[in-house]
This record gives sequence, C-alpha cells and structure tokens, in this order.
Amino acid sequence: MNPQIDNLLHETRKFPPSEDFSSNAVATAALYDEAKADRLEFWAKQARELLTWETPFTRTLDWSNPPFAKWFDDGTLNVAYNCLDRHVEAGNGDRVAFHWEGEPGDSRTLTYAELTAEVKRAANVLAGLGIGQGDRVAIYLPMIPEAVISMLAVARLGAVHSVIFGGFSADSIRSRVDDARAKLVITADGGWRKGKVSALKPAVDAALEARGELGPQETVTNVLVVKRGENEVEWTDRDLWWHEEMAKAEPEHEAQAFEAENPLFILYTSGTTGKPKGILHTSGGYLTQCAFTHKVVFDLKPESDVYWCTADVGWITGHSYVVYGPLANGATQVLYEGTPDTPHPGRWWELIEKYKVTTFYTAPTAIRSFMKLGRKIPKQFDLSSIRLLGSVGEPINPEAWMWYRKVIGAKAAPIVDTWWQTETGAMMISALPGVTETKPGSAQVPIPGIAIDVVDDDGTHVGTGNGGLLVVTEPWPSMLRGIWGDPERYRETYWDKFGDKYFAGDGARLDHDNDIWLLGRVDDVMNVSGHRLSTAEIESALVAHPFTAEAAVVGATDETTGQAVVAFVIIKESMLEESAAVEDIAAVLRAHVGEQIGPIARPRDVFVVNELPKTRSGKIMRRLLRDVAEGRDVGDTTTLADTTVMQIITGQVTAK
Ligand code: WT7
Repeated sequence: MNPQIDNLLHETRKFPPSEDFSSNAVATAALYDEAKADRLEFWAKQARELLTWETPFTRTLDWSNPPFAKWFDDGTLNVAYNCLDRHVEAGNGDRVAFHWEGEPGDSRTLTYAELTAEVKRAANVLAGLGIGQGDRVAIYLPMIPEAVISMLAVARLGAVHSVIFGGFSADSIRSRVDDARAKLVITADGGWRKGKVSALKPAVDAALEARGELGPQETVTNVLVVKRGENEVEWTDRDLWWHEEMAKAEPEHEAQAFEAENPLFILYTSGTTGKPKGILHTSGGYLTQCAFTHKVVFDLKPESDVYWCTADVGWITGHSYVVYGPLANGATQVLYEGTPDTPHPGRWWELIEKYKVTTFYTAPTAIRSFMKLGRKIPKQFDLSSIRLLGSVGEPINPEAWMWYRKVIGAKAAPIVDTWWQTETGAMMISALPGVTETKPGSAQVPIPGIAIDVVDDDGTHVGTGNGGLLVVTEPWPSMLRGIWGDPERYRETYWDKFGDKYFAGDGARLDHDNDIWLLGRVDDVMNVSGHRLSTAEIESALVAHPFTAEAAVVGATDETTGQAVVAFVIIKESMLEESAAVEDIAAVLRAHVGEQIGPIARPRDVFVVNELPKTRSGKIMRRLLRDVAEGRDVGDTTTLADTTVMQIITGQVTAK
C-alpha cells in the first residue's frame, strides 16, 4: 500500500541471546507453542498459576457481547491480597518490596510485610471514610510510597482508583474527579521536583472549588493529605492528615474477595478529541497479563533481581509495571521521587549503582536525553549489575537502541522494546529475553497468547515487507473494558473501523522476518504528494546523523504537495562547534534524510532549536510544532512540562 514505509530502516543488526542468558531464562520458546495450541487455555493456566483465587473460575472468556469482554468472570480474588499478604504468608515478608529514594536524598525501605501492614491500615482509614466496593477515589500524589499504598488500599476494598499525574493542573483534576464522581481525593502537601518542593494541594483545592455549577465539590466528601513537602497548605473542613488517620486506624484488615470483573481503576488518556477518555480496567484478567508479562519479559528472578521502572504511577506504565505486575510477582523494586537530573545529571545511574539494579525499564525520550549529554556521565558509575533493559512509550530509533545497549547494557544485556497502550493494560508486543534474537528499533513479536496483525484500510493482512495499521484480532485478558461512562465512544474509537478487530491507532510495518516495526500514531503519518510518510521514520533518519541529538517531525499543510515534512532538531552538545562550521545545517540534514529514506522524505524545512515541546510524560507535542510550522498562533500549551518552550521555539523559527 505504501512504498515509503518500505524504506524504513533496513536494519540488519541482530543480537542473539547469550547461551548463558538463554539457559537460565524464565521464558522459553515453548510458551509460543502452548499459546498457539490453545490460546484460552494458555491464559487460564497463567491466571491459575500466577494468581491466588478465592473462588476458582470455570469460565475463561465471555465474548458473547463484543466488544465488551469478560475474563475469568465466575472467579473471585482480591488484587491487593495477591500483591501483598500472600507473599508474607509464603514466608517472603522480609523481602524488600521498595527501595524508595526521595529527590533530596532521603530514603525508605519497605519490605513486603511492612507494605502489607501499611496497606491494611490505609484500607481501614478509607473504609472509615465511607469508601467501599465500586466507589471512586482520586489519587494525586508525588512518587512516594503512599502513592502505591493508596492504590493498593483502594483495590483492597474493591473500590476504583483514578490516579491523576502529579503534574496535571487544577482543571484536569476537576474534570477527572467530576467525570468519575469520586468520593475521596488523596493528595500531599507537596513533593520534591528539580531541587525544590512543588505544592500539590493548592491544585486540589482549586479543583474542588464550588463554581456555581454541579462539580466535584458535590461528590468529594474528604481530602486525605500526606505530609511530604512540609510546605504551608490551606486547610478546610473536609481535609484530613494521612499520618493522623493512619495512627488512629486499626492495624488488621482482612481482604475480601471480589469478582474478577470488579473494576480496579480508571486512567484518563488523551484521544484525538479534546476530552480525555477514562480507560476502565478490571481485576482478574488485568492482573494476570501484568504478572505474566512482567515475569517473562523481564526474566524475573524475584529472589535476586532489583527491578526499576522509571515511570510515574500517574501513567499506565506505573500502574502495570510499578504496582500490579511486579508486586503480584513479589519483585524487589526501586522507586524514585524526583527528576533524572537532580541534583546532578547522573542521578539515575547513581541509583542503579546504589541499589544494584538488575532490570531497568525506561522510555526512549529519556535515553535520547542522556545520549545528548554524552556517555561520560553514565561511565562515572558502576552499572555492572544490569542484566536486562526495557524500552516503552514510543518507537526507539536504532541509534538510541545501540547507545542503550553499549553504554548502559555493556553490550551484553538484552533489550526488550515493549509496545502497548493505556488501553491494552499490559504489554502486547515484545521480544522474550533469552528466546528472541533482538533487533534495534523493532518491537518485534506478539507476546504469547496475543493476536496481532498489520492490515490495510479494509482489514486485509498486508503481508511481509509491507506497512499498514496495527490491530489486535482476539480479545486479551488485560484489555480495557470500556470508557468510563461512555460505551458508545469505546465502540466508535476502537471497534467501528474494522468491526471485529481492535484498532490501536498505530501504523506498523512487517519486515522480512515478519518482525513488527511501530511507525507512530497514524495521526502522525503524513501524506506528501500522495505518499504516506511516517514521522517516526524521518525522525529516526535525522537522529542517525552525527549532528542530531533529538528530532521531531510534523506534516505541515503545503499548497503543492498536500503536506510537507517539517523537522525540528536539537544539535548534540558535543557537535555544536563542528556543526557551527557548516554553512547550512538544514541543507545537510535535508540531504541526509533524502539519502536515508528517499527524496520524497526530505524535509521542506529544518529548524534547529534548543528544546522540543514535551508533555510531562515525555511525549513530543507535535500539534504545537505543526502550529509553528504552519505559521499559526500556538494552541493550548497547558499540558507541556515546560510551558515556556513554545515561546523559545517560535522565536528561534521566526528569527530564521
Ligand atoms: C502509544 C500508547 C505503553 C505505555 C506507555 C504509553 C506508543 C508505546 C511503544 C513502543 C512504539 C510505542 C504507541 C501507542 N508506544 N510503546 N514500544 N514502540 N510505540 O502509553 O500513553 O497509552 O500511549 O504509545 O503509539 O499507541 P500510552
């Protein structure tokens, strides 16, 4: 269908697992055969083996009312019990659950026994505030142990959490609390970010203000406030200090079992329209797939591994791979409050050295930021404990992949590039370490038991070597169960396009090994003179040039070609001198892209900038760059991590 996508990175480098790794690997090739022989039985087996059920299920999947799935629906379990008590009962209470590190350098270790005790108390606090099965609790906290404790306490009561990322504004909190009709908000006075306390409670106060309309002030009866920042906060009648309530609470709490389909959480994510979607996840299927993927993709050896996923619990990665997957598996983790470069740019590597992290899971955007700073920084630390690396969130370009392998993984640690979404709940595409020969830049193969295809617009399989749309062709255990309060939008967004297939919204290509390459959101695919071009593909080409540290590409409206490629690039610190000597950097980079992909992909404009506009989760906001590229006033910048970035970029572009 699309000749340009064919030109994506003809990657020939492959890295087979070492014999040593393979012979001790948790994953085996047999998993694929088992799943293929009987997909449903495969998942039923995982659910039975990885989780403890109060009432065993007899039905695996009910798909009688698509696209509304039910998994293991006649079974009952308690999610928090599965993440906590059972590890203590099995004699692992002394195992560290979290090595927590605050940004200013304070730290706290929580064993499974201690974490269980905290969650029991917190569950009693919440129950005392009237929280029971099905009630919604909003959580707006920094990355402190209380964030995890709150989530698990809510889960323990069969209630539903809605975690709101600590960087969101009062208006975002308001719309989320309101949409979910939450009864309780858990927040903190403040948290540490970039060397100082950043207040959180004022945003909650503002969100809950009465504004002469029906709003969250009608439903929220209490705000529970953790003391972390020690900053002054205003106090109202509905506010309660977390530490005071915890001190008063009973220590014992027996977990009650709930149905497998009992809602576990809502997590809001942006769609193509303005209103965020409340993605709904439930209990048994979600926990099964989180635990399974965490175990096999991260080759988990719970007795000896120290696992660190750098995601904030405000995002799905934090839900599935900080809280639910790792804790269900009894893993030991690092939890870090702050930013990677505070108080110095080697902070992450220092933490890896300090806690002897074996398994490290982060995002390409972070990897590229470190690349930009140079290998000298990580080289100052002992990273020899690392044995496995993971990537998530966006396509990882081969250059960043190779840097990650060489500089962080000592050319030995396998890298797993994991594709999934808020909606999928858990990983869907990834190599299995010890089994798969890895390939820089490709997420590669579906997880055993997951049915993925790449299809054209009519839903027909595209075949080897071709590009198209990524779909999931069979229901999976951790799939979203819907959009909170809007079943129609669920159907429309994900199912109407193909009817019987889940439309992920991503472009993808199958290479000649049938490995899957993700090409970015289809809304980021441009059409230039009738040719489809992927932003990811061009960005990857730009980043492959020695001058480039980071690149973002957008399709800007163009009179002659429909859309034109416009690129924004950041030059590597170490290349500033050399690139300054070049008369026309833009021309050099345009020619480079032309060479890498083909003349059609050559950017019309290349702007050299110092920063790119990113959301707090590190996603580049191409919409804003498109505004600049098309000479419009820049739109809403409130979700940017740093709202001043756009002024700078606009200034740099118009100065040209
Ligand atoms: C979108 C989902 C999955 C948790 C973090 C993001 C992109 C995610 C990859 C990957 C290429 C990826 C996709 C997807 N994405 N992982 N390994 N390779 N693209 O969750 O905010 O729901 O975003 O992130 O475009 O659709 P999210």
